[in-house]
Amino acid sequence: MRVLVVGSGGREHALAWKLAQSSQVTKVFCVPGNGGTATHPKCVNMPMLPVDLEGIGRFALVQGVQLVVVGPEAPLALGLADHLREQGLLVLGPGRAGAQLEASKVWAKTLMQAEGIPTAPAQVFREVAPAQAYIEQQPLPVVVKVDGLAAGKGVTVAQTHAEAVQAVQAALVEGKFGAAGQQVLVETFLPGEEVSILALTDGKTLYPLLPAQDYKRVGVGDTGPNTGGMGACAPVPWMTTALQQRVEREIFQPLLAGLQRRGIDYRGVIYAGLMVTPAGDPVVVEFNCRFGDPETQAILPLLDSCLLELAVACAQGRLAEVPPPVWKPGYTATVVLASGGYPGEFVKGYPVRGLDLAEATGALVFHSGTRRERNQIFTDGGRVLSVTGYGPTLEAALAQAYGAVKHISFTDCYYRDDIGWRLRRA
Ligand code: AMP
Ligand code: GLY
Repeated sequence: MRVLVVGSGGREHALAWKLAQSSQVTKVFCVPGNGGTATHPKCVNMPMLPVDLEGIGRFALVQGVQLVVVGPEAPLALGLADHLREQGLLVLGPGRAGAQLEASKVWAKTLMQAEGIPTAPAQVFREVAPAQAYIEQQPLPVVVKVDGLAAGKGVTVAQTHAEAVQAVQAALVEGKFGAAGQQVLVETFLPGEEVSILALTDGKTLYPLLPAQDYKRVGVGDTGPNTGGMGACAPVPWMTTALQQRVEREIFQPLLAGLQRRGIDYRGVIYAGLMVTPAGDPVVVEFNCRFGDPETQAILPLLDSCLLELAVACAQGRLAEVPPPVWKPGYTATVVLASGGYPGEFVKGYPVRGLDLAEATGALVFHSGTRRERNQIFTDGGRVLSVTGYGPTLEAALAQAYGAVKHISFTDCYYRDDIGWRLRRA
């Protein structure tokens, strides 16, 4: 079977790597792919392909692709999955209507409120004056979120009322986020521990994947600006079976029912970003309509089942016919190596050295922003590599990941040396 993976990050490298493990998979087209997928024997990068709906659809049909796996949210929000399904292709990823779960925080909040899914109380505003009046009544910190997709930059956890009002003004008056910022949510801050629960669903049956913890801030100790994610660990030891069952019962089941009620046939991944409050209750911080990055690089190496089989069953709407995912014992830890300056400005195009030595440690080196030119890998993005270690304990997984990271070098390489710290306390 020929498969096509849309995207160019570490998540997509991990997806292509895992899909390629199936003996049924003959070729994985990566659109556009990166330096890591360029080196995989079953993968073919398509950097020249126009990443538009028609271009991908035409290419998939001509090449006899049967399954398309969409990594990022933006093409899903544009309706890529709808377009491909109209061409008769199998797709892992929701259509435009389902992608609103991520593409409109107001839509997602309305759905959660209607379906009784636990989430932080919030109000929607289109004008500054009422938002300001509301903000000034709120305890601190207070959270301001722009409605639409903002590449991870649309959330402000404001420590002062002035900072919150400024975030509202940036969106509603200065138009900093364009159309994505025409509405804002002002949301109550939730204290607690964050966990990412991803699940595969065909809109009827839902199989959660192992819980993961993402380290989003750029700085050690979870300080500094938010990034796409600087590291991840899986599974999360304190996510007990009882807590996972509550997440299914209180969050995923009502969500599926709500999607069905709205006529949405959701076939893909639902990513629930949760806060587990000090009282021990899981509350939704956000939904994403896709796999997480770098959570995927931590979760997929633990998956013992065939991802192709699960993905095809999801896409065909017969997930109940295949067994739920089976997991390897043990833990993974993923450390992201970034270009110095990220998530701000950074320079690309530096040669990356030591990849062979890093892989020789047994760690998995997933490429994020890299490109290959004449057998040399160069940096090509903010997040450059995601290195995943595996072991019987979280400590062992971290040791393998950091042991491999030591071998890798490129100019201005930056990584956090404390991934996993929240899980190591206690
Ligand atoms: P998002 O871009 O929606 O993932 O939000 C970025 C980060 O902001 C989340 O991972 C949380 O750490 C934080 N955050 C968002 N909403 C809340 C909230 N209501 N309470 C506390 N933290 C939040
Ligand atoms: N790691 C966060 C995300 O994928 O949105």
